[in-house]
Amino acid sequence: MNAKDSRFLSRLDATAKEIEDLLDRLLAPAPADGEIARPARLVEAMRYASLGGGKRFRPFLVVECAALFDVPRQRALMAGAALECVHCYSLVHDDLPAMDDDALRRGQPTAHKKFDEATAILAGDGLLTFAFDILSRRETHPDAGVRSELVSALARAAGLGGMAGGQMLDLAAEGRFAGNGPQQLGESEVRTLQAMKTGALLRFACAAGGILGSASGPRRQALEHYGSAVGQAFQIADDLLDLEGDPALVGKQTGKDAGAGKATMVGVLGGAGAKERLKELVAEAEQALAPFGTAAAVLIEGARFVADRHA
Ligand code: IPE
Ligand code: IPE
Ligand code: MG
Ligand code: MG
Ligand code: MG
Repeated sequence: MNAKDSRFLSRLDATAKEIEDLLDRLLAPAPADGEIARPARLVEAMRYASLGGGKRFRPFLVVECAALFDVPRQRALMAGAALECVHCYSLVHDDLPAMDDDALRRGQPTAHKKFDEATAILAGDGLLTFAFDILSRRETHPDAGVRSELVSALARAAGLGGMAGGQMLDLAAEGRFAGNGPQQLGESEVRTLQAMKTGALLRFACAAGGILGSASGPRRQALEHYGSAVGQAFQIADDLLDLEGDPALVGKQTGKDAGAGKATMVGVLGGAGAKERLKELVAEAEQALAPFGTAAAVLIEGARFVADRHA
């Protein structure tokens, strides 16, 4: 590993630790102002789903994109923690028996295995709504206009036209629903599905840095372009890990997607084709950051990490 890679890893690690501490504080068992009580089982399940694991790559993107505009780090960490809550909720629900039916996540039993399905559903609900609680606090940004822009952007990234919508397309492609057989999606349809189910949250991570920093239009567009290339790359790498990853490293079961009839880029392009596409996307991500010059070096390393990752 060269010096640049280790600088990336040390920055990823630093953000991961700060996010862990912040979520630990925000998800304390004691009720916050305006709350009536925090039921112990629900807070335990929300903490189980969000603490002690995960690469924290999305918060890393928020923090590093915000740093391009000298945003105070604590504000970026708050936005990163909010996004991580949405991500963790998406994993809890994705693993449910009614969705991907998985027993292992981040090397541990999935939330519904550790607790039960009803608790896992509620933990997901709790994490999703908690994200907007975090974004709407003054600690995230003193300007209410900025906070409201963050709320709106995350709602759009997480919902109907973003992650949740993409999950709908993902399950529909398996042929799950009455009157709907398995679908053979083409490349552009898989792109759309993946841009929604995975890309939207990663793109939000980058956009959030620009929103927090009141960036100009062209700089915001550059960040969003980078975020969408990294988002595509992220899911293609995940699909490749399902094909050839080591479950002990990945921390979840692999070798499931093809049998389940998942629509993936590996399915459309094959393993070698998917790897070629990853290279193109890393180059596209790098290109998009050109306006930031050397200030964006660690984000370029981040895009390379996404494509080469083993976990
Ligand atoms: C897994 O996300 C789900 C996808 C969107 C592909 P990550 O690979 O970021 O999972 P963690 O947070 O590191 O566990
Ligand atoms: C995840 O896609 C997308 C989400 C929105 C959670 P996958 O279903 O492939 O993610 P893993 O492989 O279970 O982490
Ligand atoms: Mg899934
Ligand atoms: Mg899954
Ligand atoms: Mg997967």
